[in-house]
Amino acid sequence: MNRLMQIIAPILRGLYLHATGQSVVVLPGNTLVETECHIDVRPAMQGEDIHEEMAAKIASETCKSWIFEHSPSGVDALQTHGISQQLPSCIQVQTTSNIYTFWVDWDLDRCRDRIQRLDTQPLEISSQTKSMSSYEQLFQSRIRIAERKVALITGGAQGFGEELVQGLVGAGALVFIADLNYNGAQTLANRLNTHYGRTVALPVACNVAEETSVQEMVAHIVEQAGGLDICVSNAGILKAGSVLDQELAAFKLVTDVNYTAFFLVTKYVAQVMRCQALTAPEWYTDIIQINSKSGLEGSNKNGAYAGSKFGGIGLVQSFAMELVEYNIKVNAICPGNFFDGPLWSDPQKGLFVQYLQTGKVLGAKTVTDVRAFYEAKIPMKRGCTGPDVLRALFYIIEQVYETGQAVPVTGGQVMLH
Ligand SMILES: NC(=O)c1ccc[n+]([C@@H]2O[C@H](COP(=O)([O-])OP(=O)(O)OC[C@H]3O[C@@H](n4cnc5c(N)ncnc54)[C@H](O)[C@@H]3O)[C@@H](O)[C@H]2O)c1
Repeated sequence: MNRLMQIIAPILRGLYLHATGQSVVVLPGNTLVETECHIDVRPAMQGEDIHEEMAAKIASETCKSWIFEHSPSGVDALQTHGISQQLPSCIQVQTTSNIYTFWVDWDLDRCRDRIQRLDTQPLEISSQTKSMSSYEQLFQSRIRIAERKVALITGGAQGFGEELVQGLVGAGALVFIADLNYNGAQTLANRLNTHYGRTVALPVACNVAEETSVQEMVAHIVEQAGGLDICVSNAGILKAGSVLDQELAAFKLVTDVNYTAFFLVTKYVAQVMRCQALTAPEWYTDIIQINSKSGLEGSNKNGAYAGSKFGGIGLVQSFAMELVEYNIKVNAICPGNFFDGPLWSDPQKGLFVQYLQTGKVLGAKTVTDVRAFYEAKIPMKRGCTGPDVLRALFYIIEQVYETGQAVPVTGGQVMLH
């Protein structure tokens, strides 16, 4: 997908988010078909460069005219959520060098099927929320908070990431599982797609510490879905070590994956979310960093990790201030230790085994002793779990009046000042 389509697809997706208040997928098609909705963005172009705001304005105006012509009541559906309406399912976009076709539908499989059958029947919108009170609507939106939304989870192949993938898919989202371990991401996606009997998850290979790789990952998501609503920057690594002798390479690796990568992921994801916001100014999107309790207080002989996580909070607050203009919320979740996850419990290289072997916990004779030592430090006497983090994630997505926050999920181990 070229740069132009990378901009046009989210602008088009924004039109539907705005008109329906619901999530859609927008896919490029190769075949030119007869369609009644043509958007000519040439006035917004200079050579191959496009003025994004102007293109968004042209797209909105064209789409409004289409709706006006196709709506018996002449109601302007772009302003009126919740009224039964029709929207175009196939849009052609004329640029200075090409004509692009985009297809739209409520979910990925339906959209792929539509393209296969070259089905240009309009997209029906109907909403049952019309007669509900605002409090009933609030409750409805709460339980359907992630329904049909497009989400990205980095480091989604295992650990907390895998838990978040399963939780978001369970809540009805289409989830891109991005990981250095592509096979792991693919295995998880296959398992979930088989379980649900439709495409609910897609693997993407990515090294979040490399700019080109992040750029390609985001381009791939736009090509597969037209944009995205939720980005969870979860991939992270831990290399413990004393400041007296830790190798610079280890320090830099932790900084690259935990800190710099959050900048890279936000940079490219926010570009897409911003394009959507140009046509859907009331649609909220979320960038959420999975931080750590070590981003809120220091960690002995673990400075590279704690420093990278503290830095993450600084980025969260700064990005939140800048991106609020586009209704992109940026927040962090700071979980406590996930004792059941592979980082701690892996029988060969997990932290419990490592701490037992290095005698870090005085008097510990077994892995169980080491675990008991760490559990005793937590007021709630247990480690953090996937569902604990998911509750915080759903809260952040639902709460539209908060950004730049770090939400601790630590069983009381770390309390905010
Ligand atoms: N495990 C804990 O106790 C704990 C506690 C608090 C916060 N966290 C944070 O939660 C997040 C997930 O931790 P986890 O324990 O589930 O880790 P994990 O090691 O179990 O899984 C991390 C995943 O990220 C992937 N990954 C690593 N480097 C990558 C890169 N450069 N690009 C793309 N993918 C990469 C790995 O392949 C793996 O699938 C991290 O940010 C971590 O700091 C973990």
